[in-house]
Amino acid sequence: MFPVSLIVCISWVVGGICQTDQDWTALNGSVNGRLHVTTPLALPCYSSYNGKPVVVDADSCALIRANYTDNEFRAESPSGYLNLQDEMCLSDPDDQCILDNSVSPAGQPSPGSSCNQGSVPSRRIEVEEVSDIISAFAFAKTHAVPLVIKNSGHDFLTRNSQKGSLALWVHKLRGMEFHADFALEGCAGNITAGRAVTVATGVSTGEVIEFASEHNSTFVGGYSPTIAASGGWVLGGGHSVLSPAFGLGVDRVAQFKIVTPDGVLRVVNPYQHPDLFWALRGGGGGTFGVVLEATHRVEKSAPVAVANIQLPSNITTETAIEWIALMARESLSWGTQGWGGHAAGLYLTHMNPLVSNLTEAEVSMSNATSFALAVGGTSVVEVLPDFLSVWNKYVLPGATHTSGTVRMVSPRLAPRKLFENAEGIQSIVEFISSIQDLGFDPRKFYCPVGTPFVADNASSHEARDVARGQTSVNSAWYDALWFLSTGMSVSWNASYAERLLNMTAFTNVTLLVEDLTGEAGGGYTNEANIFTQNWRESWWGDNYPRLLEVKQKYDPDRLLKCWKCVGFEDSDISSERFRCQGKLQGDIDGVLP
Ligand SMILES: Cc1cc2nc3c(=O)[nH]c(=O)nc-3n(C[C@H](O)[C@H](O)[C@H](O)COP(=O)(O)OP(=O)(O)OC[C@H]3O[C@@H](n4cnc5c(N)ncnc54)[C@H](O)[C@@H]3O)c2cc1C
Ligand SMILES: *[C@@H]1O[C@H](CO)[C@@H](O)[C@H](O)[C@H]1NC(C)=O
Ligand SMILES: *[C@@H]1O[C@H](CO)[C@@H](O)[C@H](O)[C@H]1NC(C)=O
Ligand SMILES: *[C@@H]1O[C@H](CO)[C@@H](O)[C@H](O)[C@H]1NC(C)=O
Ligand SMILES: *[C@@H]1O[C@H](CO)[C@@H](O)[C@H](O)[C@H]1NC(C)=O
Ligand SMILES: *[C@@H]1O[C@H](CO)[C@@H](O)[C@H](O)[C@H]1NC(C)=O
Ligand SMILES: *[C@@H]1O[C@H](CO)[C@@H](O)[C@H](O)[C@H]1NC(C)=O
Ligand SMILES: *[C@@H]1O[C@H](CO)[C@@H](O)[C@H](O)[C@H]1NC(C)=O
Ligand SMILES: *[C@@H]1O[C@H](CO)[C@@H](O)[C@H](O)[C@H]1NC(C)=O
Ligand SMILES: *[C@@H]1O[C@H](CO)[C@@H](O)[C@H](O)[C@H]1NC(C)=O
Ligand SMILES: *[C@@H]1O[C@H](CO)[C@@H](O)[C@H](O)[C@H]1NC(C)=O
Ligand SMILES: *[C@@H]1O[C@H](CO)[C@@H](O)[C@H](O)[C@H]1NC(C)=O
Repeated sequence: MFPVSLIVCISWVVGGICQTDQDWTALNGSVNGRLHVTTPLALPCYSSYNGKPVVVDADSCALIRANYTDNEFRAESPSGYLNLQDEMCLSDPDDQCILDNSVSPAGQPSPGSSCNQGSVPSRRIEVEEVSDIISAFAFAKTHAVPLVIKNSGHDFLTRNSQKGSLALWVHKLRGMEFHADFALEGCAGNITAGRAVTVATGVSTGEVIEFASEHNSTFVGGYSPTIAASGGWVLGGGHSVLSPAFGLGVDRVAQFKIVTPDGVLRVVNPYQHPDLFWALRGGGGGTFGVVLEATHRVEKSAPVAVANIQLPSNITTETAIEWIALMARESLSWGTQGWGGHAAGLYLTHMNPLVSNLTEAEVSMSNATSFALAVGGTSVVEVLPDFLSVWNKYVLPGATHTSGTVRMVSPRLAPRKLFENAEGIQSIVEFISSIQDLGFDPRKFYCPVGTPFVADNASSHEARDVARGQTSVNSAWYDALWFLSTGMSVSWNASYAERLLNMTAFTNVTLLVEDLTGEAGGGYTNEANIFTQNWRESWWGDNYPRLLEVKQKYDPDRLLKCWKCVGFEDSDISSERFRCQGKLQGDIDGVLP
């Protein structure tokens, strides 16, 4: 005899008939009517849905087409995903509901084409209360329904969606509080963490930066205003341009509140559930429970130096490679001075909260400036009064319309030692030259630069050494300098053969960069190639076994399971549940060793 739960599970997989309408109605009642059927974002533009005729909604369609690449539009929608790999079924080009994103506004679907569900969850609960989450976990356990947590929808890794799932949409959990000296909850003594902001999980990074600024503080956040500051970003690591001086999001978080899969609301900090606190500081989103809020330490507002250096777009690939080599030569010195930002084939944008002297900033950037001016480019180096000014002037303008594409990233933490001598720098340059043969143009090179606590002063070394043992990100973070690799966009309507070609080339590059950076390198779960083969070691290094123990302790029934999240098994790759990723993975693994 099978245990009852196994029978339920099997029949869900084959037919989806294990939950009756009454079951769903009961769930809806227990979440106060917050259960909804989810349809793909672009459905209003289509006249056929899952093969059945539907009525086109011309007004909604016009709005969707106009806003197709608008990050905020997607982040605020319950069926909005910034990267299209999260809403399409990657392994089945017919199973998607995507518009032609090569034109603006996005294209009208051709007559006769059908909008199919792809990997968009079937239903969602728009979470407003803790009891909504508790009901969802209980329902998932009884009915073996796959659960997924969706917040801002920024994920690159498809962890925020899942075919046939029930989504917990947590983006409506709002609220922020400033603390001059935050007292950890539930501690016997009076233990405080200093200046901090408590941020509910649905709040966007841009809002936190403004709120912190109203309290003369700087929030150390990601490079996109719409990322959820207390969501997947911090749970996976949380990189910021200010990280060289101030660390990662996980180095700065003081406390979480979370509902674990057993339905218990827990306060988690170094004194309450320290094992879970460690796991939440890098183990990844969607894995250990539903985070309600995080309290992040903030810095006092202070001037920030900025360098924005641009090369003309008509430079040759050789010039782009020389430019990348120059940045590689200068980067260790920049990092130790506190600079962090992006190094790209045609530009660099760097910021530094430790330098407020303009002359010093200009000297730091003088070689890069000379190079840019010599090839007809531009250089602006300035000191702005606070980080909010930097954010408004440099980050926001380029961060509003970058979505609605199939965009893949695969950076690899490159050890500092590679940047310490000419040989190491030469190996980076050779890597960038060699991947041209695989279709990667050095002019499109893009690399986040500046890992936590690279800044060379006594207090940052101390902070780094303390952080190293307390977070669960790959410890390579604390000895690296660049996030080396490149990105790739795949055409919205690529055939399976084209997708396989693109992903195989991309995964080949992932393997090459692993070779280059070696054991001392590492990956980052929030910005990773979905098809990374040795993902456990790559993203978590030695921390994986302990993360798995914490997963087993708090989620023994695996109510939360996402693609290559802690607890994901090799056998899941070929499962029905993950077939949107699994078929491509199998075929890539067949080509690459
Ligand atoms: C344009 C863009 C810019 C980016 N810039 C940066 C950057 O500067 N630095 C950086 O480090 N990363 C950056 N990222 C990557 C980013 O960190 C990840 O996409 C991250 O997963 C986003 O988390 P989210 O909660 O906002 O998004 P979602 O896609 O909604 O969620 C991501 C993951 O976290 C889980 N999750 C979300 N909320 C919760 C919760 N409350 N409880 C439990 N699990 C939850 C989800 O289940 C999912 O697994 C960027 C991504 C994009 C698209
Ligand atoms: C849940 O209940 C609300 C309020 O009664 C209703 O609007 C909604 O359609 C219901 N959801 C489903 C999936 O039936
Ligand atoms: C979408 O596009 C329309 C038309 O360009 C615009 O008026 C609207 O503000 C945009 N944003 C959202 C969120 O709808
Ligand atoms: C805790 O310590 C802080 C700083 O030392 C102090 O301001 C606060 O009053 C103390 N709170 C309690 C409850 O003792
Ligand atoms: C912020 O700093 C300014 C100038 O130092 C001061 O006038 C203001 O009161 C401060 N505001 C807060 C909320 O601390
Ligand atoms: C070192 O850097 C930290 C930020 O990481 C800063 O707060 C501190 O003032 C710096 N200390 C010295 C001695 O420069
Ligand atoms: C490239 O662009 C720059 C700046 O726009 C211009 O000065 C230069 O003449 C161009 N060079 C070539 C070879 O087209
Ligand atoms: C800025 O730095 C330069 C060079 O180190 C120094 O000469 C100058 O006095 C500094 N200016 C200020 C205002 O500190
Ligand atoms: C500029 O480059 C030269 C040659 O690589 C190097 O010696 C010098 O230190 C650099 N200057 C700065 C300010 O980094
Ligand atoms: C994909 O769409 C483009 C228009 O954006 C079109 O030119 C091309 O033929 C389409 N490719 C396939 C395989 O359908
Ligand atoms: C991706 O596939 C397209 C064809 O769809 C091809 O033109 C392009 O070169 C490929 N890119 C890579 C990096 O494989
Ligand atoms: C992977 O890249 C290497 C180096 O460019 C190349 O020799 C090899 O053929 C590629 N493998 C595949 C399967 O494309």
